[in-house]
Amino acid sequence: MADSVLQVADEWAIRFDGVSKRYASGEAGNGPAAVHDLNLDVRPHEVLVLVGPSGCGKSTTMRMANRLVEPTSGRILLEGDDVTDVDPVQLRRRMGYVIQNVGLFPHRTVAQNVATVPKLLGWDRRRTRDRVDELLTLVGLEPSRYAKRYPHELSGGERQRVGVARALATDPPVLLMDEPFGAVDPVGRRRLQTEFARIQRELGTTVMLVTHDIDEAVRMADRVAVLSEGAHIEQLAPPLEIVARPATDRVADLVGRGRTARLMSLGRLERADLEGDEAGTVVDGPHVELGTDLGDVLDHLVDEDRGGVGVPVWENGQAIGRVTGQSVLRALRRLADEGRTGEQEPLALADDEAATA
Ligand SMILES: Nc1ncnc2c1ncn2[C@@H]1O[C@H](COP(=O)(O)OP(=O)(O)O)[C@@H](O)[C@H]1O
Ligand SMILES: [Mg+2]
Repeated sequence: MADSVLQVADEWAIRFDGVSKRYASGEAGNGPAAVHDLNLDVRPHEVLVLVGPSGCGKSTTMRMANRLVEPTSGRILLEGDDVTDVDPVQLRRRMGYVIQNVGLFPHRTVAQNVATVPKLLGWDRRRTRDRVDELLTLVGLEPSRYAKRYPHELSGGERQRVGVARALATDPPVLLMDEPFGAVDPVGRRRLQTEFARIQRELGTTVMLVTHDIDEAVRMADRVAVLSEGAHIEQLAPPLEIVARPATDRVADLVGRGRTARLMSLGRLERADLEGDEAGTVVDGPHVELGTDLGDVLDHLVDEDRGGVGVPVWENGQAIGRVTGQSVLRALRRLADEGRTGEQEPLALADDEAATA
């Protein structure tokens, strides 16, 4: 494509360079800035999640990237171009946008909604229809069943899928998602998160996602930026590091009580966590595979380890040891250590914390 022959930096897809936003409303712009001097890079193909309390400037940050809001100062670069120099239609082609409650056009069908940007770009009928079918299939909505429906004929989760399909219509390199699963019930949200993660891996799209839900952040992100008022970055790190080693009190508050449970969902059973020397022993019956996530390992222990001797662990059909309650604790400590930064004290898990995980 002629317009993307530009040489671009590979270390980032979007760069916020000293960006501030002060809204002019209310006190004639004298209030605190909604975003104050933000410097942030979103790396190519990563899922970067911005998480923080309501009003801290997450949506403003997002909207400045696609020019729904103009910065008061600073620059935002998209793959080397200052977004203020890019024609808005071109910008939308390069940056999909998904918001809570989707904002589908109520009087247009699912197919027409998904075709919004292709139509804007003047694609022909055939190409548009093929693309719509492909996208609906991608997000798990059978085209023959869903294409002709209207938004009010869909569940919340289905509407959200249509929103994702619409945002992906032109296969944009970057996708902005503002509380995308916020309006969906917890079970549906989980499923959408998992499916979206699969789609993102398949397409390699660079994603900047905003949420106030730390669990969503930890589950979805390659890196998490924890923000406080004015879009101040409290910590920017992979999920494990955020959970195991909160850098500030604010991050610690956000990660809060469910910390051990979050570590469990991030960790997998490794060889170093095992006990016993059952190598090669043939065992029948209950066992867990090496690499199982720690939450599932704990479920097995609760169900199957009546005698407290542990559950056999298999790798490639061979028993290689046992996992016990102690091994799970050891794995959690290992995870906490892996999340360590700098010279902080190693993390000691309180016994009650481990017990309630
Ligand atoms: N259009 C607007 N006009 C004036 N103030 C706004 C506007 N949009 C947001 N704000 C203010 O900017 C701050 C950040 O808002 P926002 O970016 O929506 O936060 P978040 O998405 O993290 O909840 C808040 O104090 C909010 O009241
Ligand atoms: Mg918001």
